[in-house]
Amino acid sequence: MKNVGVVGGGLMGSGIAEVSARAGQDVVVVESSEEAAKAALGRLERSLERAEAKGKVASAAEVLDRIRVVTDLDAVADREVVVEAIVEDEAAKVALFRQLDAVVTDPDAILASNTSSIPIMKLGVVTSRPTQVVGIHFFNPVPVLQLVELVPSLLTSRETTERSRAWVEQGLGKQAIDCQDRAGFVVNALLIPFILSAIRMFESGFASAEDIDRGLVLGAAHPQGPLALADLIGLDTTKAVAESLYEEFKEPLYAAPPLLQRMVDAGLLGRKTGRGFYTYA
Ligand code: NAI
Repeated sequence: MKNVGVVGGGLMGSGIAEVSARAGQDVVVVESSEEAAKAALGRLERSLERAEAKGKVASAAEVLDRIRVVTDLDAVADREVVVEAIVEDEAAKVALFRQLDAVVTDPDAILASNTSSIPIMKLGVVTSRPTQVVGIHFFNPVPVLQLVELVPSLLTSRETTERSRAWVEQGLGKQAIDCQDRAGFVVNALLIPFILSAIRMFESGFASAEDIDRGLVLGAAHPQGPLALADLIGLDTTKAVAESLYEEFKEPLYAAPPLLQRMVDAGLLGRKTGRGFYTYA
């Protein structure tokens, strides 16, 4: 697959567009307004300029030439694969998959979602082609992290999963793992309860944030501790993923601890707001 559509050019969508164009593919990004399209293009330009400065991309301009950022969904009509990366809102994604089904003309096209927590099945069943709807879950930052989780629903065909695997592995140079269509897939289902346990440990006064993080860095060779990682992910996002895991499995280990809820209510969301478990300049 060499013609790629990406719907939503935010943090993840612009990353998916970048890696696709860097791999030589022709990319159309659809945003919801002119202003958002401008912001998406700015994100792409800055990221590609950084990559060029580091020698990871020969010419940022050449890569950008392969990307068009538009506001009209009809522009993805001829795409072989369309990856949805809009806001994590079930109603918005369901509405978009209905539209994509009507707009995309290639009968073999794959309609993928980058969702972190919405069941792929809910997106597949609103289309006339649920066998071609699949989860392709990238990790942030997309140009850096190698992993992609492939998430077929019960109705996704084996052919769709295998074509998706070929696209992310041979096409984009990523590495794929297979996951069931369950909240959290593999990585978040393991990572989020780990982070929540660290928050509970800190909340109970058992150890300081610094010592919890240093413990995991120095004692378990983690690149960063769980509380610093929560600040990086964003405490609002951490809480939202915890809630979708809890909703699905009803296991106490997925329940967001009170401290996490209060910090989100207070707007202490981590790096993006300058303060979470740590303070950032
Ligand atoms: P974001 O908020 O940075 O980007 C979403 C973009 O979608 C915005 O630019 C918005 O203007 C655009 N948009 C909204 N509705 C649209 C529509 N109907 N048509 C076209 N564009 C529309 O969000 P982010 O972080 O990029 O997340 C996107 C998706 O990726 C979500 O489903 C999220 O769960 C998932 N995800 C996020 C990760 C993260 O670390 N942020 C990691 C892996 C997956």
